Amino acid sequence: MVVVIDPCYEELGAKVVSLGGFDVLDLEYKVFPDGEVYFRVLGDVSGRDVGVVVGCFPFGQSDCVLRGLFIVRTLKDLGAGRVVVVFPYFPFARQDKRFLSGECVSARVVAELVNFAGADVIATVDVHAVDVYGFLGDRFVNISSVPVWCDFFRREFGRDFFLVAPDEGRVGVVREMARVLGVPYTGFRKVRDLRTGAIVGLELLDEREFLDLVSRFDIAVVFDDMISTGGTAARVISKMREMFNGRIVAAFTHGLFLPGSVRKLLKAGVSEIVATDTVKNAFSKLSVAPLIVDFLKKVLRG
Ligand code: R5P
Repeated sequence: MVVVIDPCYEELGAKVVSLGGFDVLDLEYKVFPDGEVYFRVLGDVSGRDVGVVVGCFPFGQSDCVLRGLFIVRTLKDLGAGRVVVVFPYFPFARQDKRFLSGECVSARVVAELVNFAGADVIATVDVHAVDVYGFLGDRFVNISSVPVWCDFFRREFGRDFFLVAPDEGRVGVVREMARVLGVPYTGFRKVRDLRTGAIVGLELLDEREFLDLVSRFDIAVVFDDMISTGGTAARVISKMREMFNGRIVAAFTHGLFLPGSVRKLLKAGVSEIVATDTVKNAFSKLSVAPLIVDFLKKVLRG
């Protein structure tokens, strides 16, 4: 089985290749003086299924989409069999609806473009809201990070903690983790200003339940699909700190960690920060590589 690794973020792709025992398809990559990128596939792909792992990092989402498009399209032009592209973090996923009239539903447009470029399957990890990609049917696959998180939490904290969903959008996945781990969970309700994106309201879903949990546990884990500015997690942690002196662990699948975000978390009273390696970041204590390997082995032939 052969895999292309995005030259701009090789670490995760390299883990996938070494763990999965895949062959690497070489690429020549360069950036012209005017900033335009250049790709050349080195090797024969005709008739072969190819996996592509596209990297992503802060401020790099647009480039990440473009790299994915160029690589996928070129592989198809060269006669590859099925092209399965993995965006460990799916760019633009949060703009998944028209919050205000006239807005571009970027999440959908990106998926349409990648599909149009020739991807037979588009996969990602913990996409913000999977429904927007429903039009692609089984050509869009969302890989859940729950198994790697549960292994990590079990190893670190046993069952001596409770989980917290920072907003209603995360309650489902937090409930699932709580079920697998046999620990309790609770959550918050968050309201954003649709125009500015600022958080204008944050309240516990059930304050009595929260007070009961803090009286019984010394560790709380706040789990979110992503951190960007750190505004959500910092607001949640500050609110928790009004009632909880224990250890607060902030856990994120996609660690964009924009400048200032870590400072916000520290100021709010976080005890520990942990993320996966879907995005290049300094807190990636666990890897989604095993999940991507399992997925690619299921879908790639040859
Ligand atoms: C929003 O619904 C997401 O799940 C995250 O809570 C949010 O995107 C995090 O962004 P920030 O760190 O800027 O608050």
